[in-house]
Amino acid sequence: MKNLISMRDLSKKEILYFMEIAELIEKGELIPDMKGKLAALLFFEPSTRTHFSFATAMKKIGGQTITMRGTSGTSAKKGETFADTLQTIAQYAEIIIMRSPVEGAARFASEVVDIPVVNAGDGANQHPTQALLDLYSIMKTQGTLENLRIGVAGDLKFGRTVHSLVQAMSEFHPKFKFISPSFLKMPAYIKDDLTEKNIEFEELSEMTDNISDLDILYVTRIQKERFADLEDYEKVKGSYILEKSMLKGVKKNFKVMHPLPRVDEISTNVDNTEYAYYFQQAKNGVYMRQAIITILLGGVK
Ligand code: CP
Repeated sequence: MKNLISMRDLSKKEILYFMEIAELIEKGELIPDMKGKLAALLFFEPSTRTHFSFATAMKKIGGQTITMRGTSGTSAKKGETFADTLQTIAQYAEIIIMRSPVEGAARFASEVVDIPVVNAGDGANQHPTQALLDLYSIMKTQGTLENLRIGVAGDLKFGRTVHSLVQAMSEFHPKFKFISPSFLKMPAYIKDDLTEKNIEFEELSEMTDNISDLDILYVTRIQKERFADLEDYEKVKGSYILEKSMLKGVKKNFKVMHPLPRVDEISTNVDNTEYAYYFQQAKNGVYMRQAIITILLGGVK
């Protein structure tokens, strides 16, 4: 495996390998040594968790990072092509970790450079490193990835994290509930994949009354920045809010996950319940991203 661009490129065996290495790293049973290696973090969209957790991960395994946050201050402003910028960065670093608002940008980068490229989010398309840390979090909380009931709520049209998550989990015989406003439903190509794999899913418009049989509720924010018409955003803004009072009667093993950032879709009164897992989920990102860098740089012997 050279690059990590889309969950669609990974087999079940490869997904489980990422889980295994992340777990070994978390338990201190594998201590990667990336001394002398440098990761280029190219972020053309805002990020807190992905950027900082990759930077943290690289430092924890002995490597270093260089960062580009947008094109301001770079020679892109003088007219340099994106391909030339990428080829230049590839002379300095051993791995590129890239976020872009453009769908397919990471795939393009992987075709231009000969060092590994990691997709840290490309538009509304994919966020595979988030999906891997999400699966790692599900495994830690449920003890298995198999046969789980998973609710996915919020912006299922533009939310790249849920696209990657659903594709990844579809290897493990889940039953899905997709909860969203009608114009933010899961894209047809993802539902077609599920149908082909005989994976059950329901499409619902309300969170209330639909969570008591779930193992995981994965909540996402409405992706305001992806709306062509802000009037459409105003229509759904604030319409999905998980409150503590809605958690009565949920299963003992139930967990609420969220890739974060949160806007208002999970009330802060959920944070101190036994069900909230989103900040631990963010922490798991450091273990998983240490595993991703180590695997792609050939550091697991
Ligand atoms: N989950 C996630 O991608 O968060 P950031 O946008 O803060 O990186």
